[in-house]
Amino acid sequence: MNEHQSHEADHHGEKPKRREMSRRQFLSYTLGGAGAFMGAGMMVPMLRFAVDPILQPKTKAAWVKVVEEGKVTDQPASFKFKVHQVDGWYESDAELEAWISKDKGGKVFALNPTCKHLGCTVNWNANPEYKDQYFCPCHGAHYTSEGKNLAVAPAPLDEYEVKVENGFVYVGQLGPNKHVK
Ligand code: FES
Repeated sequence: MNEHQSHEADHHGEKPKRREMSRRQFLSYTLGGAGAFMGAGMMVPMLRFAVDPILQPKTKAAWVKVVEEGKVTDQPASFKFKVHQVDGWYESDAELEAWISKDKGGKVFALNPTCKHLGCTVNWNANPEYKDQYFCPCHGAHYTSEGKNLAVAPAPLDEYEVKVENGFVYVGQLGPNKHVK
């Protein structure tokens, strides 16, 4: 067999070609698999680091001192207070508002002024047509002094937890209204 014949035999033969392909495939599978494994190994802690605060259960709101109990009457009055908020990695101090008054039994309670229709802010005695009620300027929802929804809004105003300690009113967690059924 001369040199030319030998080349032709290599070129047309099955075996050398198959060996070359399988070696290439083996390398690409091995390297690809190892790369994917290492990538996944790096991604899991990174992903966990990124979402961890979101997965943590939200802690209960701390009590915030708002006003002397002596200043609270049966007429709702607006009081502003600040709360420190942690949302995932983002921390901020938000200014909130509560309308605080005493119910018929003399117990202090605090309502959140966010309208339960679409979230505008209600005001006490803001519309002469609805005397001694909370009124929302956006679409006309109105509520009783205890936050009961009378029109437009589908639910009563939310209520803060309240405690009175050493002559001061503190507000805590916001939740559904417990004064109206
Ligand atoms: S947002 Fe208050 S009535 Fe619509």
